[in-house]
Amino acid sequence: MRRQRTLYILLLCISSLAGCSEGEEAMPAGRDAPYDLALPAQFSSPPLPDGNPMTMAGVELGRRLFYDPILSADSSLSCSSCHFPERAFTDGRPVAIGINTSTGRRNAQSLANAAYQYKGLFWDGRAPTLEEQALVPVEDPKELGHDWSAVERSLRRHPSYPELFEEAFGIADTAQITRQLAARALAQFERTLISANSRYDRVMRGEAKFTALEERGKHIFFDTSEKLPEGECGHCHTPPLFTDQTYMNNGLDEAPELSDFQDKGRGEKTGEYYDNGRFRVPSLRNVALTAPYMHDGRFATLDEVIDHYNRGGHPSENVDPKIRKLHLSDTDRLALKAFLKTLTDSSFVNNPEFRNPF
Ligand code: HEC
Ligand code: HEC
Repeated sequence: MRRQRTLYILLLCISSLAGCSEGEEAMPAGRDAPYDLALPAQFSSPPLPDGNPMTMAGVELGRRLFYDPILSADSSLSCSSCHFPERAFTDGRPVAIGINTSTGRRNAQSLANAAYQYKGLFWDGRAPTLEEQALVPVEDPKELGHDWSAVERSLRRHPSYPELFEEAFGIADTAQITRQLAARALAQFERTLISANSRYDRVMRGEAKFTALEERGKHIFFDTSEKLPEGECGHCHTPPLFTDQTYMNNGLDEAPELSDFQDKGRGEKTGEYYDNGRFRVPSLRNVALTAPYMHDGRFATLDEVIDHYNRGGHPSENVDPKIRKLHLSDTDRLALKAFLKTLTDSSFVNNPEFRNPF
């Protein structure tokens, strides 16, 4: 932390060109300090946008906003109503339930390692950045059902938010509290949600060993044993994030015409016929905690997911060729499930810094 701050002062001095005189308050007071994103060795640095540097105060403000029902029309819901930390920031429901118990159409996504999603957020990738994504739920009539002008007014006259925005963004008066700043703070908090300390990671670091069953599952997942069936999973669910962030059709539904998909997924965003029925490959980190599964939450358990892949999925023009009958035995299926369970990161879900601050 100290080294980071020294570096920051130095940068300030260089950028001001005025040099650093003793009397001047060049160093930001404690909470304006840059946030030190402690990255695990196997993870590269996530893409960080210009214009929204992470600070201690920005992250803390984002955490408050994330858990604060001030963002919903009737003060009943917050982001955390659909993204619970103990479920790796999913909600345990097939599809989300928003304001006035309105039912959405898609399954709430995990926010673990959201900082790394650089090919678009949401199942169809329609939001390019976390900053832009964060603006969406507030005005979605099936999520928080509010309007940003009203949220801005409540934040401006709130007893503590004006000071928090001032610390995070150095604004001079409350009129400068905007939805864009709120979204930036939310994005800063979300970028801290890094999950890289599962049993799988500990085995990779040489600190633990897989059981024989987990080892077998790993071979099936990554197609690395000639004696076992190839599961093909690792081609799309690629480590270290366990997603290659592509948009794929994994054969959930039969579709004689690609326009037949009820939810067109990626095609809805791109308008391309060939993208209909494709969804962003989800990360499998913490997958044992994020049931039910798929964009519409159709599978309640990992066994159902594995059975789906084992059967080879349903035909359509753009289903990926790696989706095919796998011929897994009962033991193979158990092994695959055991391997998936090694991706649970309890230090992530129990991290007090990610929890409700209220
Ligand atoms: C009513 C439930 C609900 C609420 C409230 C909600 N979300 Fe979500 N969230 C979802 C669903 C459902 C999706 C997937 C939607 C889609 O793909 O169309 C999602 C997706 C996301 C994603 C994309 C993740 C990825 O990997 O692409 C982010 C980030 C996110 N939400 C953050 C937030 C933030 C920040 C808030 C509060 C401002 C919030 N959510 C409020 C249900 C909710
Ligand atoms: C061709 C790429 C591809 C292959 C191969 C593949 N998947 Fe997937 N997987 C996807 C896509 C795309 C989704 C999301 C589909 C949707 O919801 O429409 C998905 C979803 C999942 C989910 C649900 C995750 C969630 O959060 O809802 C699990 C679990 C999963 N896959 C496990 C596996 C396993 C195990 C294998 C190997 C047997 C495998 N996948 C092979 C592309 C692939």
